[in-house]
Amino acid sequence: MKHVTWAILFLTPVAFALQSSGGGAKDGQRVFRLNGGDVSYVVGVNDEGELQTVYWGKRLPESQEFQAPKQRQGLASFDMPVNTTPQEFTGWGGGLYLEPDLKITFPDGNRDLVLKYASHTATADQLDVVMKDISREVYVKVQYHMDSATGLIRRSAEISNRTGAPFTIEQVASGTYNLPRGADYQLHYVTGRWAAEWNLQQQPIHGGKTVLESRRGTTGAQNNPWVMIDRTGDHDQDHGDVWFAALGWSGSWQIAVEQDPTKGTRITGGPNAFDSSYLLKSGETFQTPYFYGGFSSNGTGGASRLLHRFEVDSLLPHAPHPKLRPVLYNSWEATAFKVDEAGQMALAEKAASIGIERFVMDDGWFGQRNDDHAGLGDWNVNPKKFPHGLKPLIDKVHSLKMDFGLWVEPEMVNLDSDLYRKHPDWVLNFTGRPRTEGRNQLVLNLARPDVHDYVLGFLDKLLNENDIAFLKWDYNRNWSEPGWSAVPVEQQKNVYVDFIRNYYDILQKLRQKHPAVEIESCSGGGGRVDLGVMQFTDEVWTSDNTDAYDRLFLQEGFSYAYTPAVMMAWVTDSPTWVNQRSLSLEYRFLSSMQGSLGIGANLNKWTPEDFAAAQKMIAAYKTVRQTVQQGDLYRLMSPREGEQAATESVSRDGKQVAVFAYLHSSTQMYPYPRLYLRGLDENAMYELHPVAGKVNEGTPVKATGAYWMHHGVDLALRGDFQAAMFTLERQ
Ligand code: GLA
Repeated sequence: MKHVTWAILFLTPVAFALQSSGGGAKDGQRVFRLNGGDVSYVVGVNDEGELQTVYWGKRLPESQEFQAPKQRQGLASFDMPVNTTPQEFTGWGGGLYLEPDLKITFPDGNRDLVLKYASHTATADQLDVVMKDISREVYVKVQYHMDSATGLIRRSAEISNRTGAPFTIEQVASGTYNLPRGADYQLHYVTGRWAAEWNLQQQPIHGGKTVLESRRGTTGAQNNPWVMIDRTGDHDQDHGDVWFAALGWSGSWQIAVEQDPTKGTRITGGPNAFDSSYLLKSGETFQTPYFYGGFSSNGTGGASRLLHRFEVDSLLPHAPHPKLRPVLYNSWEATAFKVDEAGQMALAEKAASIGIERFVMDDGWFGQRNDDHAGLGDWNVNPKKFPHGLKPLIDKVHSLKMDFGLWVEPEMVNLDSDLYRKHPDWVLNFTGRPRTEGRNQLVLNLARPDVHDYVLGFLDKLLNENDIAFLKWDYNRNWSEPGWSAVPVEQQKNVYVDFIRNYYDILQKLRQKHPAVEIESCSGGGGRVDLGVMQFTDEVWTSDNTDAYDRLFLQEGFSYAYTPAVMMAWVTDSPTWVNQRSLSLEYRFLSSMQGSLGIGANLNKWTPEDFAAAQKMIAAYKTVRQTVQQGDLYRLMSPREGEQAATESVSRDGKQVAVFAYLHSSTQMYPYPRLYLRGLDENAMYELHPVAGKVNEGTPVKATGAYWMHHGVDLALRGDFQAAMFTLERQ
């Protein structure tokens, strides 16, 4: 078993260089080394008292020593050393032109900040290095936590104002990761929008800066706060060095990937500084979100598997044993806003007959919610639709041996609602300016303490009064006019941070009060998925796009950063509303079974054959659920690269393998390419069990891991939109 070790090397008396500008390290230079998984991360205090990156990559032997770093030379008179030295956390000052980690405006007009080592503490898995400005009482505790299993580093910074007066944080990052110098890096990230999230992008890292961000007040789908960087050349899914970073923040965010003037590559991540600032009073501290970083020498696939493992074992609410996702039914695509007691009960009966474990009633059950023009904010059960409250429906669902889930959108309000009529001042707005609507709704200002209390209060009451196992927490627009006039002008831009802090606080308090309740993060699909919200939610809604073919692309992109253990994937009707594409029920199931399975189809329209097929597929899914949700994912063929796509999941104990294969369309009689499996034990015997579709005649039933990996499997897939699935069981 691998352990975290911090070796703190106090180098034998090294004369420290005194700063020409005063301050700096006075008691010798230091090197701090962090080991976890197959990763070593080494930082040091350089001769100028700056905290400098020394090494980040494959784990090196304990015997390997490191020299304390030295500040690098500047470039002529135009780039001071601060621009050429790879620092871990840099204040804006002293001629810095790169992305700063912290930029402050003091009340006297001074905006210069130069941070130097002051002290440190180190335990087995945690290092805190305190930096201080060279003259002012501004302290930054640069914090590192190493995950012993995966080598993922969790970074954060705590900024303390001990100056005796308030100051304004104009920009703050959780920290900067520096890569080894190199000019052959390529950056992977995702872009998207509603119904088209998780599109993988890839580009070389050149001179200049690539900024991925959200200015939306929330995580957003335009970019996701995650990057992976590998090297061009001999690299693929399972080979080559890969560095990655992901920010745990569900508000406006920014990750800058920048080449410095000496071609050093830096990744700086934190809350977005655009239109935002934070007034920090004297005596207060500001804790940044977590910025995670990791390394794998096993390609982008290896990097994803590390992230998945970390999320399941260390991040999710019940980590290291998050519950497997139950197979759920959701009413949205079947009944939209037309929910009522009889209709939902009828759907529940049908859902139970195919093996559904959780019945979720979506939008439409509250206030005057008959379409998307009214009702948000009025979280009382609609008496016309549910004359006896929710209890009869919930009891019915329980009698069918399912648990009950409910849709809510707590941070939103329709203009046509009692809440808005009573509290028009509760929404984000600038006095006297328009209030731009999205889906006929406005955003409640959750930064306000009264709004925080209202939202926590109604959710707590809802959960106290009803036996609810699951909340689908939705968020169906992004911000506009983000004004907060109830606080002094200099504090109004705190809204970007305080809103998210209150959002997390509500989630945390609800979980404490109702520990059995599970929560899904949804934002019109995958618009609020990040490592911040995943600390408080059990699953996420991947996309409103439920077209089973489109989903192969979306789910692949999602899987680069996030585990299938949280990736909800519904089987819906055909032709899909998305593309008017017709797909067989089996294909739709096999697409959704790559993640956490749900059914969102209108069961009232299903034939007896559909029910029988669904029952069979759901039963099959339950036999591989643990493997798919929490196993190791190998991407065998990408839908982006041709007509075929295939993934393989290997259970943690190595006993079960689940393979999914898809064919877009056959052309010119070409056979389906052979699948070469990965991650098996070469010498163990595995028995093949087809679940859907056929393997070629002559395929052995039992063979060694070596055979399945090196000889491979041929599938008899022909036609348009075909899919197959088989398992291997280790003997
Ligand atoms: C969003 C969600 C959908 C559904 C609707 C309800 O679009 O992503 O799944 O819940 O809201 O209004």
